Amino acid sequence: MDEELLELKKQALQEIANAQDSSEIVQIKSKYLGKRSQISRVMSSLKNYSIEERRTLGQICNTIKNEIVEALKAKNNQLISETSYSIDITMPVDEDRGSLSPITIVGNEVCEILEKMGFAIVSGPEIEDEYHNFDALNIPSTHPARDMQDTYWLGSHKLLRTHTSPCQVRAMEKYGAPLRIAAPGRCFRNEDIDASHENTFFQLEGMCIDKNISIPNLIYVMKSILSEIFDQEVQVRLRPGYFPFVEPGFELDIKCLICEGAGCSTCKGSGWIELCPCGMIHPNVLRINNIDPNEYSGFAFGIGLTRLAMMKYHINDIRVFNTCNLEELEQFGIV
Ligand code: DAH
Repeated sequence: MDEELLELKKQALQEIANAQDSSEIVQIKSKYLGKRSQISRVMSSLKNYSIEERRTLGQICNTIKNEIVEALKAKNNQLISETSYSIDITMPVDEDRGSLSPITIVGNEVCEILEKMGFAIVSGPEIEDEYHNFDALNIPSTHPARDMQDTYWLGSHKLLRTHTSPCQVRAMEKYGAPLRIAAPGRCFRNEDIDASHENTFFQLEGMCIDKNISIPNLIYVMKSILSEIFDQEVQVRLRPGYFPFVEPGFELDIKCLICEGAGCSTCKGSGWIELCPCGMIHPNVLRINNIDPNEYSGFAFGIGLTRLAMMKYHINDIRVFNTCNLEELEQFGIV
């Protein structure tokens, strides 16, 4: 028996020495120390031996086991230190650490402002289903509004979410009414890319449902957010806008901060800049999500965070955000 075990140990140590990567280490460990290994079998049969034999054999097993464990550990450490991505903790810290993206910074700011007003920050999946992205927002499959959102379909009624509005639905399902939530996140549309269109962009969805919520509440909240973001009192106006999940729906414009309404190239001469679609939540949306529209009303808005970051940081080409070109990024103080 002793001979056999010593032979086994020799074999194990040889295999450990030859191992090429950590997955082999795992296999060797299970082969020699696992439940069905020879050593385990000998250990569990010890009860059949005399006390004397039990003692010597047990000791041999334990010593061999420990030796194998130590060899496995040492080899694993050696393999880790040899891999190219190992971390050298003696390296000096690089002072040029990069920074948050302007989109993240603006998004965090909007969230902080909304949190002060009692909104909870929530999130939803980027791979959504058709129901949350469309149907539960009053956009059935036959609705032409689906064409407005060129969708990346993934099959089996799954898609890359085209907007953050499905977070409204998920929040209503989870929390019911009354409700105040904000959901920042990445959205995707099958767009041709140019200076003002990207296939990947960021929105922030806001939603407030309570008793007696009306349009002045919406205007107040929007004006407060935007004034704080732009560090000055902004003027807003509402124009009619169509979105199936709000009624009435609006496009919210702010008075151009560059020309203060006189007309310039940024506002294309109109004095106003379109910033944020919004509206009063459609009763169908409340109903679909089990909230009684006779008892509750609410408003919702979808701020384009990418757009907001472009305005706040005077970035005139949307493609900059997704580029890996450091020179371009540094130009805008992005890295
Ligand atoms: N989800 C819309 C879009 O991406 C934007 C939007 C419009 C969001 C009106 C809203 C809203 O919450 O009330 O086109």
